[in-house]
Amino acid sequence: MKHPLHGCYCILKKPVVPEGFRVTTMTDKVTCVVAVIKKNPESWDGTITVAMTGASGIQYGLRLVECLLQANRQVYLLMSKPAQIVMGMDTDIPVPTRASDAQRQFSELYNAAPGQLLAFGQEEWTAPVASGSGVSDAMVVCPCTTGTLASLAAGLCTNLTERAADVVLKENRRLIVMPREMPFSVIHLENMLKLARMGAIIMPPNPAFYNRPTTLDEIIDFIVARVLDQLDVPQTLMPRWGIDQA
Ligand SMILES: Cc1cc2nc3c(=O)[nH]c(=O)nc-3n(C[C@H](O)[C@H](O)[C@H](O)COP(=O)(O)O)c2cc1C
Repeated sequence: MKHPLHGCYCILKKPVVPEGFRVTTMTDKVTCVVAVIKKNPESWDGTITVAMTGASGIQYGLRLVECLLQANRQVYLLMSKPAQIVMGMDTDIPVPTRASDAQRQFSELYNAAPGQLLAFGQEEWTAPVASGSGVSDAMVVCPCTTGTLASLAAGLCTNLTERAADVVLKENRRLIVMPREMPFSVIHLENMLKLARMGAIIMPPNPAFYNRPTTLDEIIDFIVARVLDQLDVPQTLMPRWGIDQA
């Protein structure tokens, strides 16, 4: 059966579960078999904040979280209310409405170790990301609405996503912003330029087709691979141009 997010490795009936794997339920109809990876909570290879806002394409953000967890990163997860609404429209995954639900649901779905995935509410000002002393190594806003783009460019800090990005910029950490809109207006373009001048990396999720993708998974992975490269997180999602292709 089609994976609610990206279309593969799902089964309809009772799964065969090989040793080293376990079953995780995604919806009442869909079950996944995922690898059990033993991780040491004391030894994350860094912490990345992933903020999801209400632009179409939350699939990129979810896959990014999955890959970061697999790469032994700790992930701080932030989700705006509109992100939850768009998630309900873009995917068949049950929508978590509270940060604690998101933490539980995605930890289970992506097989995170205890403490590896921490989700915070948009007004949780006591979260580490709200302060320079608790700043993560990098932050990705994926996907980013034009509204959040504008707030980041103006340094508004009216919710935790905006504050966390402001902190990442002031602390000279890597901020990756992935705006999704089409076409871009002058306002959007000016806001992107402003942020780029402040040191942010602007990565609109524009897939390429030279790799001849045949599934949504491949299109999503193309984008996520580029983001992981920017974060210096090792990845083998895509063959490297001129290296992996003869
Ligand atoms: C189904 C749906 C898709 C949307 N897609 C986009 C989008 O691709 N880009 C965008 O900038 N806004 C999009 N929006 C509008 C934003 O969700 C809206 O402006 C919201 O206030 C953004 O808030 P946030 O930045 O706090 O998440 C979409 C809204 C809905 C309901």
